[in-house]
Amino acid sequence: MLDEVLAGLAATPPRIAPKYFYDARGCELFDAICRLPEYYPTRTELAIMAAHAPAMAAVLGAGCALIEIGCGNSAKSRLLLDALQPLSFVAVDIAAEQLKASCDVLSQAFPQMAIGALRADFEHAVAVPEGMLPERARRVLYFPGSTIGNFTPAAARDFLADWAPLLGRGGCALIGVDLKKDPARLHAAYNDAQGVTAAFNLNLLARFNRELAANFDLAAFRHKANYDGAAGRIEMHLESLRAQTVTVGARHFAFAPGETVLTEISCKYSNDEFCALARAAGYVSAAVWSDMENLFAVHLLRLPD
Ligand code: AVI
Repeated sequence: MLDEVLAGLAATPPRIAPKYFYDARGCELFDAICRLPEYYPTRTELAIMAAHAPAMAAVLGAGCALIEIGCGNSAKSRLLLDALQPLSFVAVDIAAEQLKASCDVLSQAFPQMAIGALRADFEHAVAVPEGMLPERARRVLYFPGSTIGNFTPAAARDFLADWAPLLGRGGCALIGVDLKKDPARLHAAYNDAQGVTAAFNLNLLARFNRELAANFDLAAFRHKANYDGAAGRIEMHLESLRAQTVTVGARHFAFAPGETVLTEISCKYSNDEFCALARAAGYVSAAVWSDMENLFAVHLLRLPD
């Protein structure tokens, strides 16, 4: 973490990878974000899964090997597991405690299923050990939560393409995608009235103070999130409120007033844009499920046989 944070802060413009949000406090704050009235993605995706998981299972067929990345609090996994009843399930996440908690809950709910946990940074395809995947089962990647939006479109395409060899011929991917919509709605979702998203963003600095011997003054930075319509993405920043120098490890970083550190992008897609991205990664679009307001979509992609 230290090397990556130092390189990111030294870059022009400065940035920090969003994977560092998820220490124990960051996971708690993210769970709180998911329950906010303004943050529609989680409840919308859950409703899509509740309504359509049986249809998804019908397309995917029985006896799959399911791999879920960014397992989070496992509510969506349960809906899919209930409908799909796969032969095996591997949960991948960077947050160790959350991963263990989810797998414990799922093991109790599905005692007959082989469940494995893999702690990994999932910026690229994860090398899932073959021993965790039953032979000849259709492999299905489940990537819910619109976390794919936290990659640039080019990185998202490369990420899907990187998974193709492991998924193999006829392998599938089920991806949660946040859709383009009224910018005011997006703005509200990332600037909630209770300030939970601000606390989530600023928690990065508290984490670096604790774990990297940094001395960020949390009162001297503020959360800033805006929607860039041309790029089709939310950008989250931490903005310096005054001229200041911060020490991280043995390095010093000067910030001018108003200077920002980019902490996250969250790309929004139309269904056509996402299908084109999937095609560029080598997949065909097999089905798409959305809510009535077209806020969110779950895309089922398939690799050719
Ligand atoms: C995890 N990810 C999909 C969330 C998002 O909406 O991009 C993270 C988040 N950041 C602020 N609010 C939620």
